[in-house]
Amino acid sequence: MKITTPKRIFTRLMISYLVVTLAVLGVIAIIFINLMQKYFFSIEGFQLEGQGEKAASLLERPLLEKDLLTLSRMAETIAFSYDTYLWVIDGQGSIITTAGIDPHKLGLQVEKYEIAHVLAGNYVTKQITGPDYNSLIHMTPIYENPGSIFDEGIVSIKDEKMNVIGALAICHPLWPVTVTISKLKRLVFYAAGGATILALFLGYSLSRKIARPLEDMSRVALSVSQGDYQNRINYSSNDELGQLADTLNYAIEHFGTTIEQQHRLVELQQEFISHVSHEFRAPLTSLQGFTELLKEGKCSAGERDNYLEIMHKDTVFLGRLVQDLLDLTGLESQGFTLQKERCAPGAALGRSLKQLHYTAALKDITLSLHVQEYVPDIEADEMRLHQIMVNLVENAIRFSPPGSEIKLSLHYDGEGIMISVADKGSGIPAADLPLIWNRFYKVDKARTRCDTGTGLGLAIVKRIVELHGGRVSVESEPGKGTIVSIWLPQKADL
Ligand SMILES: Nc1ncnc2c1ncn2[C@@H]1O[C@H](COP(=O)(O)OP(=O)(O)O)[C@@H](O)[C@H]1O
Ligand SMILES: [Mg+2]
Repeated sequence: MKITTPKRIFTRLMISYLVVTLAVLGVIAIIFINLMQKYFFSIEGFQLEGQGEKAASLLERPLLEKDLLTLSRMAETIAFSYDTYLWVIDGQGSIITTAGIDPHKLGLQVEKYEIAHVLAGNYVTKQITGPDYNSLIHMTPIYENPGSIFDEGIVSIKDEKMNVIGALAICHPLWPVTVTISKLKRLVFYAAGGATILALFLGYSLSRKIARPLEDMSRVALSVSQGDYQNRINYSSNDELGQLADTLNYAIEHFGTTIEQQHRLVELQQEFISHVSHEFRAPLTSLQGFTELLKEGKCSAGERDNYLEIMHKDTVFLGRLVQDLLDLTGLESQGFTLQKERCAPGAALGRSLKQLHYTAALKDITLSLHVQEYVPDIEADEMRLHQIMVNLVENAIRFSPPGSEIKLSLHYDGEGIMISVADKGSGIPAADLPLIWNRFYKVDKARTRCDTGTGLGLAIVKRIVELHGGRVSVESEPGKGTIVSIWLPQKADL
């Protein structure tokens, strides 16, 4: 049988937990960093736009007057005070002056069509990046009448009638922003790392918590599949897993008990069969032996009669054994019912005794019956009652010495009747007392079968009494005698 190892469940849970955590953290980090970048760049762009407009208005006059000296000086001043790099373009698109640090890098980054676009009255803002630079460029048109900017505000710049006389490109290094962003990225990275470690711990303990009872369940299930019902799942919790563990424990308990009962039943059946075979073997062997002797025909007439006598006893014994077995099997079968009717127990006992007096007389034994003054009628199967009496009295006779007395008594205790058979026979050792009711149990194992005892008599008695809803009991003192009693309820509920 293949069993999924619980470790795999644990690993799978752990990996899923990690993947989900990392994915969520990754998405959040990317969104956060992007938003921050956009935010910083837009602030930077906004600032640059304002600076560009101011610078353009300042540069308008020298550009209009083509005063290059003033223009470049002014450009230098602006570049210095804004800490930017400037580039002034005339109306034809040619660079007139540049100011600030690293001017050569900017020239490479601005396309002709972009200049034309600005000269047509538009703005261009773009980021330029290279191996050792990262800047934001803003290009703004320079209008002929910048005075209106201050008089009427920015709205007037968009006035189409205004004349574009040139363009200004203003460039600002982005490294302070990128430094901030990379610091921020590092921070996010550390936070994500911390969260991942935390998630790892949480995921581990959570996965363990789920995987451990599963491990336990699979271990117990394995032992059950190998026929061991002793192990239980050691997990209690009021969640679904706890419920599952409880259900499985209950099922194992129940299943284990059923299996045990079945084993016991099979054992009992095997025991019974071996007992029956054993009981049959002795008379059959004897019969076989004597038949062979008779077949050989070498025996005298006297011997022959003797053999036939033994063979007759064997067949009687076998007949009785079969009769008792059938009887007991019938009494123990599910569908068996007693033929119960109202009967007077005193009268019924008297009728049974009449038949037994003869057997007792053979051994010079006297039977006496003592009936209490008032004994009510009971509901019983009279034929079965007779069977009980025959069994008990025959036992008493068999184990009593010749010439002794057997006393039968009947009395009523308010709820039911008690019938006792007391003899002055050999008695039963205390250790055997509880066992005499078992099938085939005989105290003296070496007893010959000539006395026709099958060992089933008391088992049949007990079964009949129990079917009546009563109980059996025995008292005995070895060497002094035995009292076997049965109690039957006045009104059987069964
Ligand atoms: N009255 C008795 N006195 C002594 N032993 C008894 C008495 N009744 C029963 N026993 C013991 O109980 C055993 C079982 O009795 P029973 O089931 O009737 O079988 P059986 O009579 O065929 O031997 C007997 O073999 C005997 O050892
Ligand atoms: Mg008997």
